[in-house]
Amino acid sequence: MLGEEERCRIRKFVAEDLDSVCEIEVESFPYPYPCKLFLAYQALFPELFLVAECSGRVVGYALAIAERGGRAHVISIAVAPKFRRRGLGRALMLHLEERFRRLGLGEVVLEVAVSNTAAISLYRSLGYSVVRRIRRYYPDGEDAYLMSKKLL
Ligand SMILES: CC(C)(COP(=O)(O)OP(=O)(O)OC[C@H]1O[C@@H](n2cnc3c(N)ncnc32)[C@H](O)[C@@H]1OP(=O)(O)O)[C@@H](O)C(=O)NCCC(=O)NCCS
Repeated sequence: MLGEEERCRIRKFVAEDLDSVCEIEVESFPYPYPCKLFLAYQALFPELFLVAECSGRVVGYALAIAERGGRAHVISIAVAPKFRRRGLGRALMLHLEERFRRLGLGEVVLEVAVSNTAAISLYRSLGYSVVRRIRRYYPDGEDAYLMSKKLL
């Protein structure tokens, strides 16, 4: 799957991946999560923190939590700039969704910046739709869309 020359796979995050994940985070977001927050998420939901590894190198991650009421919440997803548009973001989301199903979670929600056309396209292509707009969700004042998808 995925890259032309690279062999890629999706697997669970382990603590040794932390530096790579933090690097991807800094490259991907104007307001990156502090590195130690990733370890807190891993401690909470280790099954829902995945990385994309290509030829031994971690080049993407996705993490989610399970909420009350059988709902999954995707907290973050990012792919290193050089590895984008190769299907890794989609693969990470699909692997997460499979894990949500196995946990009996019937719905997924996530927030995305209204200007983030790449991420919105990815989510729409996977069947997510906008529930509502959340005013001034981000630290710079940008609005977010709350998007959701029902899992069968
Ligand atoms: C959003 C992100 C994770 C997508 O990862 P990716 O590995 O590049 O995505 P994929 O290659 O799996 O793309 C799947 C589909 O998403 C859509 N898509 C992805 N990037 C796109 C872009 N730049 N423009 C338009 N559509 C895009 C397309 O429909 C694409 O399918 P296609 O390549 O067959 O046309 C990546 O752009 C990223 O890390 N962005 C910075 C961090 C971020 O914004 N995260 C989301 C926070 S809510």
